[in-house]
Amino acid sequence: MKNTNKTKMTAVPGGPAKRVYIVTFGCQMNEADSEDIAAAFRARGYEVTPELKKADAVVVNTCTVRQKAEDKAVSQVGRLRLWKERHPEGKLFVVGCAAQKLGAKYLKSRFPFVDEVVGARAIERFEDALEAQYGPADAAIEISHKNLFRSPQTAYVTIMRGCSLKCSYCIVPAVRGPASFIPAAEILEDSRAKLAAGAKELVLLGQTVNSWRRDGATFSELLMEVLRLPAIERLRFMSPHPLYYDDAFIKLLAGEPKLARHMHLPVQSGSDRILKAMRRGYSRGEYLDLLARLRAAAPDLAVSTDFIVGYPGETEGDFADTLRLVQEGRFSMAYCFKYSPRTDRPEMRTAITGAEMERRLARLLAAVRENSRVVLNERIGKIEEVLFETETHGRSSGNFAVRVKAGGIPGKVSTVLVDGAEKNTLNGKLI
Ligand code: SAH
Ligand code: SF4
Ligand code: F3S
Repeated sequence: MKNTNKTKMTAVPGGPAKRVYIVTFGCQMNEADSEDIAAAFRARGYEVTPELKKADAVVVNTCTVRQKAEDKAVSQVGRLRLWKERHPEGKLFVVGCAAQKLGAKYLKSRFPFVDEVVGARAIERFEDALEAQYGPADAAIEISHKNLFRSPQTAYVTIMRGCSLKCSYCIVPAVRGPASFIPAAEILEDSRAKLAAGAKELVLLGQTVNSWRRDGATFSELLMEVLRLPAIERLRFMSPHPLYYDDAFIKLLAGEPKLARHMHLPVQSGSDRILKAMRRGYSRGEYLDLLARLRAAAPDLAVSTDFIVGYPGETEGDFADTLRLVQEGRFSMAYCFKYSPRTDRPEMRTAITGAEMERRLARLLAAVRENSRVVLNERIGKIEEVLFETETHGRSSGNFAVRVKAGGIPGKVSTVLVDGAEKNTLNGKLI
């Protein structure tokens, strides 16, 4: 769905605006799709409401990356039976990755009160589902910061859809389809519109976001174009994949202060044997070399990551390699997931017991927590560039939450001298 038209929304003749309630599961790509869905509803005179009981339409944007994510989304749909009984005129849309996996036939037979199912592969055609329910729209889609931006300052910009890698554990390529790259002109138009609507920071999104390539242009060239837009204060992207870093990017990182000093660079495991079985395409050593090259270009770079524990065949030795990587990688933060089989193939079942899975997860979480504390404390006495959201709170270029006593200007980047750290937050003074 393209939401690049800036025509003002016309008031709906007769009566107050209708309301749509949107629940979003899963990753930033789903969040970005939900923003587009909200914009499409607004073009039809709807407002987004945080209250289900006031809603005239409901959208559940689902995830299936792990079984638990799918179960959560499905039970949310089940609970909407009651809403539908109380709002028989209301429309229920089930969209996204679990919708793609489970299919309209299954979902509509299990939950007959669902009106429309739009799978992740067809999400750009969400407008068709709206048309099927309500007829043609009478206003164009508009970008406004009433969209569900991550914060009033931050907006997502999807630059690619799907994924063409084949990590053995992952269902994303099956539900989102192969990689396709959005043309630079569309990305720039979307970025411009979001900056005009008040965003200061953009987050470019894609499953292997730094693999973007289109019409002869590379990812680094795209970043340079986006950085040239007036009003941009900071540029982030996620998730990059280690395979797609090149010298041009590293040079850009070194020379471009508006490029955030943070990468979320999922490693998944610290064991070469497991990385190979996962088909990640890099070894532990190659990953660490890449971190060293990135940090040579940007010495204050913060790196966060994802880990999977209990992958089929993961021994205590493999797991110990992962534990060691927590310190070696000096990660500021890490999401740790229990392996969840996404296929019935017996070799893709985990070999460890549930209790052992829990033990490994707890050990990994403890290591990550301890390491994050060390990394956070290393920032004391240093300077952070902070984009303020309120007078007292903001986020640094390295993606740390930062608190000052007073004086932050919302929407502005200011320099803070860090004088303390607690939990996940740096404390400091404006200088
Ligand atoms: N494209 C990103 C990851 C997207 S999925 C990348 O390759 O880096 C987000 C995270 O979910 C992954 O990094 C991985 O840690 C986790 N994940 C994916 N499939 C999983 C599974 N089957 N079980 C447990 N965790 C999984
Ligand atoms: Fe899944 Fe990411 Fe691997 Fe693609 S690169 S298959 S999205 S884990
Ligand atoms: Fe989930 Fe789909 Fe994202 S499976 S993690 S919402 S791409």
